Amino acid sequence: MPKNSINQLAKELKNFLATQDEDDLITAAASTAAASVSCSPKEVTSKEETSSGATLTIEFRRSTPRASTVTASNTADASIMNTTQKQAALKELAETIQHCSRCPLGATRLNAVPGEGNVNAELMFVGEGPGFDEDRQGRPFVGRAGQLLDKMIAAMGLTREQVYIANIAKCHPMVDPLHPDKHGNDRAPNAGEIACCRKYLEQQIAIICPKYIVALGGVSAKALIADAKSLGALRGQFYDLHLDNVKLPRPVKILATFHPAALLRNPGWKKDAWIDLQMVMDKLGLKGARK
Ligand code: URA
Repeated sequence: MPKNSINQLAKELKNFLATQDEDDLITAAASTAAASVSCSPKEVTSKEETSSGATLTIEFRRSTPRASTVTASNTADASIMNTTQKQAALKELAETIQHCSRCPLGATRLNAVPGEGNVNAELMFVGEGPGFDEDRQGRPFVGRAGQLLDKMIAAMGLTREQVYIANIAKCHPMVDPLHPDKHGNDRAPNAGEIACCRKYLEQQIAIICPKYIVALGGVSAKALIADAKSLGALRGQFYDLHLDNVKLPRPVKILATFHPAALLRNPGWKKDAWIDLQMVMDKLGLKGARK
């Protein structure tokens, strides 16, 4: 194609994109990305996902209800909600998530898994995405990894009811979506799926407004700390959380540690995870479980 035609095309595309709603662009990029993933999940990198979504198959669909009316995103002057407001906002958000079809995971899930816990929690845990058990129960971290997470929370001197637990992706990412009953069919959410779910998690964080977030595993840490470094490089320090879509009523700090599923596979890493959790305990004045 001659260079001036390419330039003209680029100019038109740029003007066109400038007039589109960001949500629609994310939906389009993500649906294309996830469609390729379902064909060949292991071969698709996040770079391919975004570039194919942006250049080739841009479909502008508005399939999702707009976010709730009582969310932090449209709170002109973001302030911490009271308990009743938080419960109402989270309930409304959970209903939106349950009907979400922003990405193809919406078509294969049994249940969306918005998250659960104390709406006034000072500490929030964020995992990757629901697995087999979570998809069936509609609750986060209820399988084997969840049992270990419960023990980690207990070791900190807390109960599951005192913290809030959520995931980056709200629906079950499967390696083989055609066989949802297969075990060992879980995979991490891809870049498009993460982009689709981001505003839900961001709204949850802004509503709950915990003091600290523990990102469980590399996927969660990279998505929330917005850094492509390895989990090993991200661990060991607190970061200020910055959200893309909503205003935080007060600063939130985030720390990365190992995903409990990784700890089940590599029990030798548990002592390092414990060092991470102790950093949070120090900040929150927690003494840990009595021996
Ligand atoms: N792994 C996760 O990342 N989240 C869950 O909810 C369960 C397993």
